[in-house]
Parts: sequence; structure tokens; C-alpha cells
Amino acid sequence: MNLRFDDNSITVAIVGCGGFIGSHLLDAVLERTRWRVFGVDLDFYRLQHRLNDERCEFLCADLAEPVVVERIAQFPLVVNLAAICTPSRYMGEACEVIRSNYDHPAALATACAKSGSWLVHFSTSEIYGRTAPDSGELEEDSTPAVFGPVTASRWSYATAKLLAERFIAGLPDLKWTVVRPFNFVGPYMDFMPGVDGEGIPRVLANFSTALLRGEPLKLVNGGKAKRCFTSVHDAVDFLFALFAAGSGTAPGVLSQAFNVGNSENEVTIAELAGKMRSIFAKVRGVDVSTLPEPQVVSGVEYYGAGYDDSMRRMPSVAKAQRLLGFKARFPLEVALEESLSWFVKHYDTGASS
Ligand code: UGA
Repeated sequence: MNLRFDDNSITVAIVGCGGFIGSHLLDAVLERTRWRVFGVDLDFYRLQHRLNDERCEFLCADLAEPVVVERIAQFPLVVNLAAICTPSRYMGEACEVIRSNYDHPAALATACAKSGSWLVHFSTSEIYGRTAPDSGELEEDSTPAVFGPVTASRWSYATAKLLAERFIAGLPDLKWTVVRPFNFVGPYMDFMPGVDGEGIPRVLANFSTALLRGEPLKLVNGGKAKRCFTSVHDAVDFLFALFAAGSGTAPGVLSQAFNVGNSENEVTIAELAGKMRSIFAKVRGVDVSTLPEPQVVSGVEYYGAGYDDSMRRMPSVAKAQRLLGFKARFPLEVALEESLSWFVKHYDTGASS
């Protein structure tokens, strides 16, 4: 397999092409290569500007259909981003979450093993489990994972993702690479509840929504959990470093799981709330003291029974640097300002100003 960026005979299949990461990857593939794209998703509202692009073919379908899986596996490079990945759904929809994060990826991996495609599978930083506040760096090939009890259905997602990783790694003949994202942020992340989605989105979209609506930011269990937020542009650059590193054949690219995160961007969620309030005040030209103070809520009351949390998610970034020469570049403030400014511009109806 030779995946040169200037080869216009190559088609990459992007599953979950219409989602947050997929939409950024699609743009980058079209801008940085001469490849074609076979994009699969259940909706394409983020891709209005690409729907008539002659280098793209879109299929509105999901991986529950075997015929769709077979078709995707005909392409030499398959990037699978499709997943239910909002924590608010892990409790009430555990079986659906497991189907989306284990059954469907396993079927796709089986088909790719047969066809010889290189599968780049998106897993999650959440496979490191219920990390403690003082957990050290999470390292791909040495850190053990601890999960909560079966009644803590928060872990339905992480255990399904972990099983999918193990299934992929166990399939004879599959060419695979696993990506573990650490809290990617950027334009087009998630949704605004009541506008283009229902329920509770991940923290960035949830805080952005509250700021726009003039409501207090909710700090789950005091906002003590820590995350390393990573710009989606770094995520796309990582993928290009991966694609470039020997077209999936170089040692160190295949049969590897990679953390993709920015270890310099660590904050507690309470600190994130403070930063987002300040950025919002700046974007809006108002004094931060005019915004409502954050409110502490309990995780179980907010998300429902079975909620649990990882208290620290600090990636080791050494492996991506060593094998691919990749290091995330976007500082936290830059990533947050871009994301929040986009959110304000995209959703603001003026009602909250
Ligand atoms: C998520 C998802 O499980 C995965 O989709 C994904 O792989 C991973 O993050 C990621 O984005 O890479 P989590 O980090 O817990 O997990 O997602 P958020 O919902 O964004 O929550 C982050 C933290 O903020 C948690 O401690 C949560 O309790 C807190 N939070 C969230 C609040 O304090 N207030 C809110 O309004 C929302």
C-alpha cells in the first residue's frame, strides 16, 4: 500500500464523516491531498459546503448494515470515527452505547481484515478508566485500567471501546492503528441542547450553551476532575503524521495504540469554567462579573444513577513523538477561544445578549 498524498486514485473511507472530528478530517483531506473521500454517516449537516464536491461520495447509513460494512472495507484506508460518545448517554442507553462502540467496530474490523484495508480506529482516553486525582501519565503500553462496578454504567462506553481495541488487536491479518483522543475541542463540537440535539453535550458545548443563554455553568461534583483539552486541529495533524509515516506499513505505525492529547493543557473543570467565562466576556465585550456564578451539582443528580468519573487524564505523549514525530501545538487558551467564538457565532440568536 502506497498512500502518497498526490495520488488521485486513492479513496479514504471516513466513517462518522459528518461528526465533529470527521468534518475537520474531511476538509483537511480535500485541502492537503488529491485523494477522494467515501464518507459515511447518519447526517451531514456539518458538511453542507462539501455535499457537491466531486471528490466526495456520501452514504447515509450506519455500520449496523453488513452491506455498508463490506462496501467501506473495499477502500485501502478506513478511518472509523463513528460512536455514541457523550457521557450523558452512557447510563440510560448502555446497550446502544455498547452496540455502537463494540459490535459495529468489530464487524468493520473483521471486514477490513478480509479485504486488507488499513483500519485507523478511534478509541478513547476513557479506556484508562476510573483514574484517581493523583494518577500519573497514562501510557499506552504500560498503564493498567481500573473500572467501576457493573452498576456504575458510566463505564459501558469505556469497556465497549476497550473490548473493541482488544478484538482489533486479536484479529489475525488486520492492519490496524488505534487512536485514543484526549478531550478534543473545536468548532462543530457536539450540539446546543434544544437546537440541534437533545440531552447534555460534553463539557465544552455545555458550558458554551450556558454562557450564551446567560445560565450558570454547572460544576459536576465541584469541578475537581482534570482534563487535558486538545485542539481538533492537532488531532487532524496527528492523523496526517500517521498517514505519512509509511502508508501504514512502517514499523511503529501498525499494531499500535496512540494517545493523542496535549499534556500542557491540563485544567480542572472549575478552572475551565473560569477561563471560558473570561473568554466569553471578552468576546462579548462585557465585564465577567455580570455573568452568573458557576453552580455545583452532584454527578448522579445531573446525569442520573450510575454516573462515575475519571479524576485525571494526563496523556503520555512520548510514543506519538517518538514514532511519528508528532506533538500537539495549540495552547489551551487558543483552542478555547476558537471553539467558544465559533459557538457564539454559530448559535447566537441575540436572545442572550
Ligand atoms: C468524554 C467522553 O466519554 C468521550 O467521548 C471522550 O472520549 C472523551 O471525553 C473525550 O472527549 O476525549 P469526559 O471527559 O468525562 O468523557 O467528558 P465531558 O462530558 O466533557 O466531561 C468532562 C468533565 O467535566 C467531567 O468531569 C464532567 O463531570 C464535567 N462536566 C461536564 C461538568 O462539570 N459540567 C458539565 O456541564 C459537563
